[in-house]
Amino acid sequence: MHPIIKIYSGDSISGLSATIFASYFLFHKNTGLVFIHAFIPIIQIYLMLNGPNPDVLCPMEPHRNLVFLKNQITNPNIIVGEYTYYADFTDANNFERNVLYHFDFVGDKLIIGNFCAIASGVKFIMNGANHETAPISTFPFAVFGNGWEKIINGANLIGKFPYKGDTIIGNDVWIGYDATIMPGVKIGNGAVIATKAIVTKDVPDYTIVGGNPACIIRKRFNDHQIARLLNIAWWNWSAEKITANLKFINSADIDALENAAR
Ligand SMILES: CC(C)(COP(=O)(O)OP(=O)(O)OC[C@H]1O[C@@H](n2cnc3c(N)ncnc32)[C@H](O)[C@@H]1OP(=O)(O)O)[C@@H](O)C(=O)NCCC(=O)NCCS
Repeated sequence: MHPIIKIYSGDSISGLSATIFASYFLFHKNTGLVFIHAFIPIIQIYLMLNGPNPDVLCPMEPHRNLVFLKNQITNPNIIVGEYTYYADFTDANNFERNVLYHFDFVGDKLIIGNFCAIASGVKFIMNGANHETAPISTFPFAVFGNGWEKIINGANLIGKFPYKGDTIIGNDVWIGYDATIMPGVKIGNGAVIATKAIVTKDVPDYTIVGGNPACIIRKRFNDHQIARLLNIAWWNWSAEKITANLKFINSADIDALENAAR
C-alpha cells in the first residue's frame, strides 16, 4: 500500500484553502493492476480567505443560476460593479434580455454598483421604450420614414422622444423578484425594492419601496445614520478589509463600523 498525498484547490475556494487527501493505492498481486482504494481528507488548511473571487461567473458552483453579473455583460452601455449578483430560475446567463428597449443609438446606460442583489424577473425599461405623449397620437410615425420622417424636419430622431437619462443603481441595493425599474430612475445606496415593485421615481439611500407605482414603505435608518453609512461606504473597501469587518457590516452597529473604517 502506497499512500500518496495530493493537494486540491478549485475556483470556488479561490486557491486559498486546500484539503490534503491521502490516496491509498492498492496493488493487486495476481493481475498486476493498481486500484485507487480511498480518498481520505486528513487535514484542512485554512489560509487567509477573503470571500469569493469576484471575477468568477458562477461563485456558488455547482449552482449555476446565480452569477457575478459583471463577468457576463457584453453591452458597453451596461456597467456593473464588483460582487453584484443576479439570480435567475431559468437562465442566469442572459441578464441582458431583462434590459429592455436598450438601443445603442439612444446611448443610455444602465449603471449598477457593488454588492447589489438582483432577483429573478427584475426588468429595466430603458429610454428606447418611450413614445411621445403630448401629441394627439402616440404613434412613432417618424421612425418608419417613407415620407413620415418629415414631421421631425431633419432634426435628430432621438431628440423627438422623451429621454430621462441613465438608470443608476447604487451599491448594496437589493432588487426583489419581478421588480421593474423605469427609465432614468436613480436608486440610492442600501435601498430595497420590494417584490413586483414598479419603480417610477428615484429612491433615496437606505429606503425600502414597494407597489405600483413604488412608494416608500420605510427608511432603514434615520437621516443621521444614513449620512454616516454613506460616509463609510464599506462597499468600496478592499476584500481584505471587508472580510476583517464582516461582523460589523452584517450588524446594525454603525458606531462599530465607523470605528473600523478609521
Ligand atoms: C419589501 C420587503 C423587504 C419588506 O419586508 P419587511 O421589512 O419584513 O416588511 P413587512 O412584511 O413588515 O411589510 C411592511 C409593509 O410593506 C408592505 N409590503 C411588503 N412587501 C411589499 C411588496 N412587495 N409590495 C408592496 N408592499 C409591500 C406590507 O404590506 C406592509 O405594509 P403596511 O406597513 O401598510 O402594513 C419584502 O416584503 C420584500 O418584498 N422582499 C423582497 C423578496 C424578494 O423578492 N426576494 C427575491 C429573492 S432575493
